[in-house]
Amino acid sequence: MGSPQSVVVRPTPSVRGPVRPPGDKSISHRYALFAALAEGTSTLNGYSTGADCASTLSCLRALGVAVDIVGRDATGLQVRIVGRGLRGFQKPDGALDAGNSGSTIRMLAGVLAAQPFVTQIGGDESLSRRPMRRIIVPLERMGARIASNDGRPPLTIEGAAPLRPIAFQTDVPSAQVKSSVLLAGLHADGETRVTETVQTRDHTEQGLKLFGVDVHRAGLTVSIHGGQHPHAADLNVPGDISSAAFWMVAASALPASEVTVSDVGLNPTRTAIINVLRRMGADIVVESATTDAEPMGRIVVRHGGLKAVEIAPEEVPGLIDELPVLAALATHGGALRVTGAGELRYKESDRISELADGLRRMGARIEELSDGFHVHGDRRLRGGEVDARNDHRLAMAFAIAALGATGPTTIHDAGAAAVSYPEFFTVLESLRA
Ligand code: S3P
Repeated sequence: MGSPQSVVVRPTPSVRGPVRPPGDKSISHRYALFAALAEGTSTLNGYSTGADCASTLSCLRALGVAVDIVGRDATGLQVRIVGRGLRGFQKPDGALDAGNSGSTIRMLAGVLAAQPFVTQIGGDESLSRRPMRRIIVPLERMGARIASNDGRPPLTIEGAAPLRPIAFQTDVPSAQVKSSVLLAGLHADGETRVTETVQTRDHTEQGLKLFGVDVHRAGLTVSIHGGQHPHAADLNVPGDISSAAFWMVAASALPASEVTVSDVGLNPTRTAIINVLRRMGADIVVESATTDAEPMGRIVVRHGGLKAVEIAPEEVPGLIDELPVLAALATHGGALRVTGAGELRYKESDRISELADGLRRMGARIEELSDGFHVHGDRRLRGGEVDARNDHRLAMAFAIAALGATGPTTIHDAGAAAVSYPEFFTVLESLRA
């Protein structure tokens, strides 16, 4: 998807103000899927306004689920979903369109693998390049048959009912893969176990519990018994820390800045960004609120100088989506070396080479590594012209780098930001001091 729209970003001395980030993208997808599989009507508040989460809703509608957007406020959309129960999906009339959304295609594939019909699912040009063997292999072991374009979308999924339970060891750290297998496991005849090499975000485990499904974790293994029937739930989606990260980084980068992010998700599998910003020199205060669902709270970030920092491979899964904007941070000063992040090459774009290319065009000194990058913040950017390459996080990371340049930056394809954060460029203007 994305839009060809170009945006000019001018430098600013500092950013100041309050921000309520959009509803968490990862959590929005999952709550919508679980609500669709539940018995009864769920209401989700603060659902992400991004195009990716709209793709999940439109796929669910095509599967016969009643989905209504009944309201909208500062926290996001209010979505009402009438669940069809574990075995209630209908065969769609045509192919499902997951747009730009890897989460939609991979997680939904886990459910489609259990349907008594054949479904086709694909997406845009970027999604059509993304690797799917990571889900095809376990879902076929469970009994589904999946045809693909040499391991890439579109997928033709011939479901099996019931599926066989498996014990699966993931070979890449991926919450989408874990979630896909667990969702298939919910439809399997027995206990399915997924073991990870490093813990990834656990929103599926947390979310399924909120819909009344028992999920058990022991160390790096998560297990689920098939045949449990999710029940409907009314839930608030916390603000997305991966979207808030752009403002947290801007405040860390620019002298005399202070940004307060409210109602933001503080799930410990997502907060590694806070530790890295502190290591780089930012002054950060976190206040947690009490909730019986996903943890959330407030984060205040003030500039405090910038140091050279390394991110180790074991930290990467906890901040995989924040790495582009952390690279942007290091163009403001300090330095950042990241290794063990080869997965970045398989995101909405090759986020190592496109990031290095864009930041270099703006004047940065950056080395591309096979599994990461090294940014030297020893020279001020001049600005220039960059292309977001249909990648929302690159569009926004380039904008944050541009704030510290000596001249303006034109970001082509900046409309891609709408995939996760349609309000991004408006909020950016409101935070300029
Ligand atoms: C996500 C997991 C990550 C992340 C993506 C959202 C999720 O992808 O990059 O933006 O919601 O589970 P992988 O599972 O491919 O690492």
